Amino acid sequence: MPTILETKTPRLITALPGPKAQQVLADDARLMSPSLTREYPLVAKKGYGAIVEDIDGNAFLDFAAGIAVCSTGHCHPKVVEAIQKQAAELIHISGTDFYLQHMTQLAEKLIATMPGKDHKKVFFGNSGTEAVEGAIKLARYATKRDKLIAFYGCFHGRTLGSLSLTASKNTQRRHFGALLGGVEHIPYPYAYRCAHGHTPETCGSEILELLEQQMFRRLFAPEEVAAIIIEPIQGEGGFVPAPAFFLQELQRICNRHGIMLIVDEVQSGVGRTGKWWAYEHAGIEPDIVCIAKGIASGMPLSAFVAKESVMTWKKGSHGSTYGGNPVCIASAMATLDLIANGYMENARKMGEYIFGRIHDWPKRFKSVGDVRGKGLMIGIEIVRDQKTKEKAADLRDAVIDKMFHKGLLTLSSGENTIRMSPPLLIDEEQADFAIRTFEECLRETEKSI
Ligand SMILES: Cc1ncc(COP(=O)(O)O)c(C=O)c1O
Repeated sequence: MPTILETKTPRLITALPGPKAQQVLADDARLMSPSLTREYPLVAKKGYGAIVEDIDGNAFLDFAAGIAVCSTGHCHPKVVEAIQKQAAELIHISGTDFYLQHMTQLAEKLIATMPGKDHKKVFFGNSGTEAVEGAIKLARYATKRDKLIAFYGCFHGRTLGSLSLTASKNTQRRHFGALLGGVEHIPYPYAYRCAHGHTPETCGSEILELLEQQMFRRLFAPEEVAAIIIEPIQGEGGFVPAPAFFLQELQRICNRHGIMLIVDEVQSGVGRTGKWWAYEHAGIEPDIVCIAKGIASGMPLSAFVAKESVMTWKKGSHGSTYGGNPVCIASAMATLDLIANGYMENARKMGEYIFGRIHDWPKRFKSVGDVRGKGLMIGIEIVRDQKTKEKAADLRDAVIDKMFHKGLLTLSSGENTIRMSPPLLIDEEQADFAIRTFEECLRETEKSI
């Protein structure tokens, strides 16, 4: 419940950026790595629920959630309490060298969220990219093969192994030299731009044919492939969901050839789509699942969960100094309880509510090409012309900037998509504000077309 000083919708009290924010921006330009990709000048100071306050006291409604991380909102009292209690008891010991009950308790909780008959085991790390690195290593170790297949548009991280899989924007790979060998990419089933005119339910059969009839025959035999890695909904690639049949067929192909199916749930997982894991919508059981972002409400924690029959590597094969840090785990335990006890259901309900109100935007706004996603992972693709589907990154950026100036935080995704990925606790009043503001900004931006 908001206190008297708190608000549920934006409250702007200065021009943006405000005077204190301007000072930080100047210092940032002097001191920080220029590789960071800030979209607008928000200088955050505090957060509660779905609200972020900047350093000048302006309050914003957060439909970005720290890149889909703050699943339970900002500084949820139960999460803060769990973190504070644990920090006063034990901050670090290293789960690589010593045992921690925290790790087994969270592993049990996580495994319980994953349907399927196989028992599973867990490895904890610190970031999404570390989960993917570990998954790559485990797949290679378990299969004694080295080839990896990923999808165009995918984002799996920025360290050199995961970057070898990432194929989202060439700036992310450029000038970094040779990456992992043995990695190939195939197209992702992107229904809005499907060359074969398929629907969101049927797009992708030609890609599976390409995989089996071309790649497996001409590049390398399936017996050489360690893993196929896929995001069930591409995050950085434009919030593009893969059809259920596509994931099911991929699983069939992997099973047939002893290939590990790695599902990257770093952005789509932890209740955001209305189920614990987005792959559940397709009813599959991956060999390895990568998790991060929403798992610990902002504390740095990641995990990969693998079938017991896959996670058989020997002592010393893999480790991490901070992985499974007790404070991060305390935050994750509180987070998973909150997600299980209402926020996942709220994500499903509010996702339906928002889709119900915006699914016809392509009819109502000439710059909206597509509205897609699941639960509270919603992508709006901005085009210059609905017939040609010309991508309009400039219009997309203008809409995002206008929304910021009206107090609504969103992020871009892919070349020309805007993502809505709020904390899972938003209510109708907040959804209505976001929809109304988005519509106003679309209308204002369209005046320039
Ligand atoms: C699907 C996916 N995988 C991996 C990553 C990498 O996560 P991190 O930035 O925590 O390394 C991201 C980050 O956006 C992601 O969206």
